[in-house]
Amino acid sequence: MASPPPAGGSRRAPVAACILAAGKGTRMRSRLVKVLHPFLGRPMVLHLVDAAFRAGVDRVVTVVGHQADDVGREITHAFPGWSLGFAPQTEQLGTGHAVLQALPQLAGAGEVLVLYGDTPLLSARTLAQLLQAHRESAHAMTIATFQAADPTGYGRVVRAPDGAVLRIVEHADATADERAITEVNAGMCVIRGALVEAALTSLTPHNAQGELYLTDLVARFALTSSEGVGAFTLADPIEAHGINTRAQLAQLEETALARMRLTWMDRGVSMQDPGSIRIDAEVDIGEDTLLGPNVQLLGKTRIGIGCRIDAGALIDTCELGDFVHVKAYSVMTHARLASGVEVGPFAHLRKGTELGERVKVGNFVETKQARFGPHAKASHLSYLGDCEIGRGVNVGAGTITCNYDGVHKHKTIIEEGAFIGSDTQLVAPVRIGKHATIAAGTTVVRDVPEGALALARSEQRNLEGYYDRYRKPREEQKKAAQEAKRQHPPEPPPADAPSKET
Ligand code: UD1
Ligand code: MG
Repeated sequence: MASPPPAGGSRRAPVAACILAAGKGTRMRSRLVKVLHPFLGRPMVLHLVDAAFRAGVDRVVTVVGHQADDVGREITHAFPGWSLGFAPQTEQLGTGHAVLQALPQLAGAGEVLVLYGDTPLLSARTLAQLLQAHRESAHAMTIATFQAADPTGYGRVVRAPDGAVLRIVEHADATADERAITEVNAGMCVIRGALVEAALTSLTPHNAQGELYLTDLVARFALTSSEGVGAFTLADPIEAHGINTRAQLAQLEETALARMRLTWMDRGVSMQDPGSIRIDAEVDIGEDTLLGPNVQLLGKTRIGIGCRIDAGALIDTCELGDFVHVKAYSVMTHARLASGVEVGPFAHLRKGTELGERVKVGNFVETKQARFGPHAKASHLSYLGDCEIGRGVNVGAGTITCNYDGVHKHKTIIEEGAFIGSDTQLVAPVRIGKHATIAAGTTVVRDVPEGALALARSEQRNLEGYYDRYRKPREEQKKAAQEAKRQHPPEPPPADAPSKET
């Protein structure tokens, strides 16, 4: 999302969007309110707020009811600095009633764009086109419609013989003839700001559901205003699909993913087995990057150009520079990798990992709050947590930073050019000086000065003739016993002997 526009920049009357998000979403069968369920890694309602601002809306007012505080917090956190408002609706008495709650916060808007919080595929482009169509036609209200193969559940658009929009009749209130109409109300609409208050306060709940229907505004404007109501036909009706169940969520997400993959391929990203690859909405990928099968790019991940991400890698909210190679089945969250880094296979980079240029982290290495200087290497089987590893350091296989004493975490610092031998334990807090060498198998409990060799293991003793004196006679004894058993096997029991098993 771009940064917020400067206040008072435009001369036209501000455009406000009103997003209806008060419903619980009973059919999701969830403790989480429907509009906060993630869609491509981002709470559903945030897609709407984002699309509205991108379409040029100046202010977004969200009608909140169930889990109002959580919905408010998510939106506020995701759009700092943008003009936001929240209108509580404690009882859900209909879509018209919902917009009524937002009325005080919509005052002064030239146009009010009403959106439903459960249609995450709605694009900024479509909203901009709807606003444009409304402005050009100068209608009192413009609704979005589409032709539905199965119009069940939707409000039907009733038109006069000359094509003028007369009213919307909700499914529950429609006659058999009206139910046969296939042009339906998509949900989103634009209303001229100056007319909103009077129109909304005139609504009555005389209908099958006893609710205040926003859609009743259509008949009111068609009858009472000379400008009438316009209909904007959606080029891509799937954008209006609402989510009511988890199955619909999964289906719509798959549709969105399929589109997203094509978009990324158009932008120069290669994919092997594209259908198996998951890319969240806020991910960014550079040209000439290759994604292997089953790769998952999640959250706010940014990937540079010319990277190679091999099969099964899971990358969540990470920043990767250019020409990074992530080998198969590596998992990383909240990590930053500079250009030319090589990771994996089977590496685990946890929160706070920062790898400098051309760092190499190999198989079965786990890192956490670990900063690696350029060209440092940890190629095999290590745990490196709460540490700073200097430029060009080589960390041998099986090295462990013992960062936790059971109560507190402590830091390990390894300075530039140090060499850490295999199977080393670094008991933190500890500092290894520049160009120091740690002998394999050492447990380091004290700081090691620059250029020194630290060696902490008992001295090796070689006992001559051990094989002849100890191992060989025992091996021969064992072999003789086996041979005797082979030549004189125990008698098999008689056929009528009682079985051991009872
Ligand atoms: C609505 C339209 C219908 C249209 C359809 C498109 C009305 C009366 N009908 O019907 O013409 O074809 O959408 O999907 O508007 N909400 C609130 N507070 C309320 C009621 C609803 O915040 O008191 C929110 C819901 O959480 C939801 C949205 O408004 O996000 C739409 O409400 P919903 O009950 O789904 O309306 P539909 O019956 O689908
Ligand atoms: Mg609905």
